[in-house]
Amino acid sequence: MRLALVPRELAAETVADLLHHNMIVRNAKISRSEEIVLIPVNEAGEKYCISIGLKVIEGETHGRKDESPHRLIQKALDLPEEKMRLLPHKWELFGDLAIIRLDERLREHEEEIGRAYAKALGVSSVCVDRGGVKGEFRQPTVDLIYGETSESVRLENGILYKMDVCKLMFASGNVDERARMGELDCKGEIIVDMFAGIGYFTLPLAKYTGAEMVYACEKNPVAFKYLQDNIRLNDVTGKVCPVLGDNRSLPLAGIADRVVMGYLKGTRDFLWKGFELVAPGGVIHFHETYNVKEMPHALTRDLTLSSGGREYKVETLREVKSFAPSVSHYVADIKVYD
Ligand SMILES: C[S@@+](CC[C@H](N)C(=O)[O-])C[C@H]1O[C@@H](n2cnc3c(N)ncnc32)[C@H](O)[C@@H]1O
Repeated sequence: MRLALVPRELAAETVADLLHHNMIVRNAKISRSEEIVLIPVNEAGEKYCISIGLKVIEGETHGRKDESPHRLIQKALDLPEEKMRLLPHKWELFGDLAIIRLDERLREHEEEIGRAYAKALGVSSVCVDRGGVKGEFRQPTVDLIYGETSESVRLENGILYKMDVCKLMFASGNVDERARMGELDCKGEIIVDMFAGIGYFTLPLAKYTGAEMVYACEKNPVAFKYLQDNIRLNDVTGKVCPVLGDNRSLPLAGIADRVVMGYLKGTRDFLWKGFELVAPGGVIHFHETYNVKEMPHALTRDLTLSSGGREYKVETLREVKSFAPSVSHYVADIKVYD
């Protein structure tokens, strides 16, 4: 049996990633030590793990006792039946931590609930997402309820994303869009990522597409610090130029073969800058939320108002995810001609 050796803090995310791609030997046991988790992988998994820098060895495994995490969580807790029923069946993994949503009626039991989820899911920390993101920097309302730290590293499509989940948002629903950015052919291109965050789109663009340089602009100093860490972590120093500040002040008019505008609910107010940055023949990836009934007219209106009379064409328009009833997150790929 081939076993991938994974550092404990990356284990939860690696397992999720490998399962998603059918690369785990499912009836074998995942074993743990203090520092390392041994994950049984098939041939495709072995190749993938080696490609992202993990070591794979030959070793022994045992049959797995199949008990769902939710069952383990219930067994670990001593709560009245009506409260047991409120325990969440879903969670999101971010590296070595899990994020859950918790009914207010469970607030007084948060610490023991956190401990039970940590043990059952094999993570070191558990956070509660109280819902929503706030302000210009899109800060989440997330609290640490178990463990030492809310900072971890997520492995997704071979990219490592490090951040603090209590301070910054990570839209797991944008996973396909992050993957799509990494699949583009950007050989020799100059790219400007106007809302870089921790490197959501910058990192796959710099790592996989052949881009010459990605200018990654981020206004929030906390996100910017993680952007710098992630550039080093993913070995793309020299391919990314991180810029701390407001993208509206970028002095890069007309240089970009590609502009990425990965913001929501107000990106239209920055669209004029996207047009200013893009070179003739370039592309803008424009993200925005729209009422589904108003599409595509509302997009046409925004483009007309911001294009400064330049000629352009919406090459593709995709719905990334549903955002609220009748409101969706869209991304438009806009080719700018002159
Ligand atoms: C949170 S990200 C959006 C989510 C991301 N697309 C994903 O896949 O999860 C948006 C980032 O834009 C940054 N931002 C907002 N206004 C900005 C501006 N005027 N200039 C530069 N960065 C800005 C925010 O601080 C934030 O980090």
